[in-house]
Amino acid sequence: MNISTNTALQEQIQDLKAHEKIIGLVPTMGALHEGHLSLVNFAYQYCDVVVVSIFVNPTQFNNSGDLEKYPRNFEKDYQLLISNNPKTIVYTPSINHVYGEDVKAEEFDFGSIVSYMEGQYRQGHFNGVGTVLKRLFAIVKPHKAFFGEKDFQQLQLVKKLVEITQQPVEVIGSPTLRMPNGLAESSRNYRLTPAEVEEASLIYKALSQAKTMFNDFSINEIKSSIQDLFEDHQLLELEYFEVAPTSTLIPAQTKKTHLNYRAFIAAYIRDVRLIDNLALN
Ligand code: PAF
Repeated sequence: MNISTNTALQEQIQDLKAHEKIIGLVPTMGALHEGHLSLVNFAYQYCDVVVVSIFVNPTQFNNSGDLEKYPRNFEKDYQLLISNNPKTIVYTPSINHVYGEDVKAEEFDFGSIVSYMEGQYRQGHFNGVGTVLKRLFAIVKPHKAFFGEKDFQQLQLVKKLVEITQQPVEVIGSPTLRMPNGLAESSRNYRLTPAEVEEASLIYKALSQAKTMFNDFSINEIKSSIQDLFEDHQLLELEYFEVAPTSTLIPAQTKKTHLNYRAFIAAYIRDVRLIDNLALN
């Protein structure tokens, strides 16, 4: 079912909760793909009913061109969700329902997890994400909320957000869905030609190479080998490659034995910016 007003949604949720149903929320900005469906299906392993919000959040775009170009196709998204699972509630609020008159990002103190990589290259982005999620959690009041590991920094940020705002939501991460060539599923892939989709598989190859090298090479050696790999591929421009512990997300120079590390990449193919990451140990 599609619900677009907060009152109608809240009535529905209250009724479900009165029947002891567990409610999950999968927040999205639409342009849905297999990765979203796998996240929704993952959520159904933990919940009786999943609310999928479709809301293109203006406050998280640091580039107004990106906001304009963001693909929007509600009818297709709705059909995908309902044919995947007819119990799904598709919540499509207006800007006014989410923000009222005050369409601006709040300032949060998320600490080191947002200081580097996406936080560094997309100024203001994470405050916008935090603002919209705080509001969506307050409107939907789900028991659990689900986020893909492809946006690993975002996932860590949401865990921090619920801690700071003390919202009673359990935040659960779901593994990244990949195409057969390894490219992570993303709404931005819609903007790539089939040949570019093949080229973009270099991102996953680079992450896999970093994983293979992780035990035997220093972080500096891994970084220069990944930079060399990108230099050989003209179509892709590497914005950053970093190795960071999952606990702090501060890019590391040396490895410590007791920490879990991930490798993170952002790269451009033309004007399409793609990100991905992979656990290294
Ligand atoms: O990952 C996204 O699509 C967005 O950042 C989110 C979580 C829906 C917030 O607008």
